[in-house]
Amino acid sequence: LKVLVLHGPNLNLLGVREPGVYGTMTLEGINKELTALAEELSLDLKILQSNSEGDLVDAIQGAMADCRGILINPAAYTHTSVAIRDAIAATALPAVEVHLSNVHAREAFRSHSYIAPVAVGQICGFGADSYLLGLRALAKRLGK
Ligand code: DQA
Repeated sequence: LKVLVLHGPNLNLLGVREPGVYGTMTLEGINKELTALAEELSLDLKILQSNSEGDLVDAIQGAMADCRGILINPAAYTHTSVAIRDAIAATALPAVEVHLSNVHAREAFRSHSYIAPVAVGQICGFGADSYLLGLRALAKRLGK
């Protein structure tokens, strides 16, 4: 059972990017923790980070072929992207939206998500643990 893990723009800079907001763990560190948890949950992961909206849309469309669910931190595209939202809706796959920071406790523009209405749910504010909690929630949804 395979799950697509998507990291949106600027998340390649985790560890050096605004550590006070996003923590000090690198994206590689998060992916390692996710991979260990996936093993425990008997899930396979396909992990991608992209700074491009189109690449993220392509990956979501591609998930229809070989994935059963999507774990996504759309990053800034959360607040702007109808294209990513429509792609998730098109796949009809369960998607869990995650954020490192508590987007509801920051600038007002971050509290609106184009993705949330097409997601199973949203987890935010727990740093790297948001991803782990999200993967657990998705696994449960998939009967794992
Ligand atoms: C983020 C929150 C977004 O508002 C921001 O644009 C990001 C990261 C988070 O994980 O906290 O790039 O998705």
